[in-house]
Amino acid sequence: MICLKKANPEDLEKEWLFVREMPENENGLTNAWHGVSREDFENEALPSMLKFAEGRELPEGYVPETFFFLWRDDEIVGQFRIRHYLCESLRTGAGHIGYFIAKPFRGQGMGTEGLRLTLEEAHSIVPEEEIYLRVNLDNPASLHVMLNNGGRVVSQDEAHYFVRIPNPGKGR
Ligand SMILES: CC(C)(COP(=O)(O)OP(=O)(O)OC[C@H]1O[C@@H](n2cnc3c(N)ncnc32)[C@H](O)[C@@H]1OP(=O)(O)O)[C@@H](O)C(=O)NCCC(=O)NCCS
Repeated sequence: MICLKKANPEDLEKEWLFVREMPENENGLTNAWHGVSREDFENEALPSMLKFAEGRELPEGYVPETFFFLWRDDEIVGQFRIRHYLCESLRTGAGHIGYFIAKPFRGQGMGTEGLRLTLEEAHSIVPEEEIYLRVNLDNPASLHVMLNNGGRVVSQDEAHYFVRIPNPGKGR
C-alpha cells in the first residue's frame, strides 16, 4: 500500500535514515540535511520541517513549505514537498512542488503515484489555479512523472522545462 504522510515525530527513526541518505542535490532537488546525525535530525531538521509547514522561522524570502514522505507499506521510498504559494522567485523558478524517490525504488511508478497524491494535498493548500513545476532538460524521468499527471510544458530556457498542472482546489 502506497501513501503520503506529512513529516511527523512518530516516524522519526525512518525519516532520519531516509533524509540522511538523500543526496545534497540531485537534478536540482536539494537536501540540506544529507548525512545528518540522529541527534541533529531530532533537534533541528525535523523541527525545522514542522515549523516551515506552519510558516514559522522561515529563511528570508521563503514561503511556507510542507514536507511529506511517500511510504510503501512500512518503508519510506520518497520525499515530496509543497511550497504553499508562489513568490516571484518560485514563479520563475522551482515552482510549487519538489520530489525525490530513492534509487532502489525508481522505475516502479513511485514518482508518478507520489506526485498524484501530492497534487491531491496541494488542492487544499495552494491558492493558484495551476501548479507550477520545473524540470531540467536532461531529466526525462521527472518530465514523464509530470506528464503522467496531466502536466503540460508551457516554456523552456537553456536548462529547464516549465510545466503546469491544473489545480482544481482552492484556486477554483
Ligand atoms: C525523477 C524521479 C522522481 C522519478 O521517479 P520514479 O519513481 O523512477 O518515476 P516513475 O517510475 O513514476 O516514472 C518514471 C518515468 O520516467 C521514464 N523514464 C525513466 N528514465 C527515462 C529515460 N532515461 N528517458 C526517458 N524516460 C525515462 C519512465 O519510463 C517512466 O515514464 P512512463 O511512466 O511514462 O513510462 C526519480 O528519478 C528521482 O528522484 N530523481 C532524483 C531527483 C529528481 O530528479 N527529482 C525531480 C526534480 S524536477
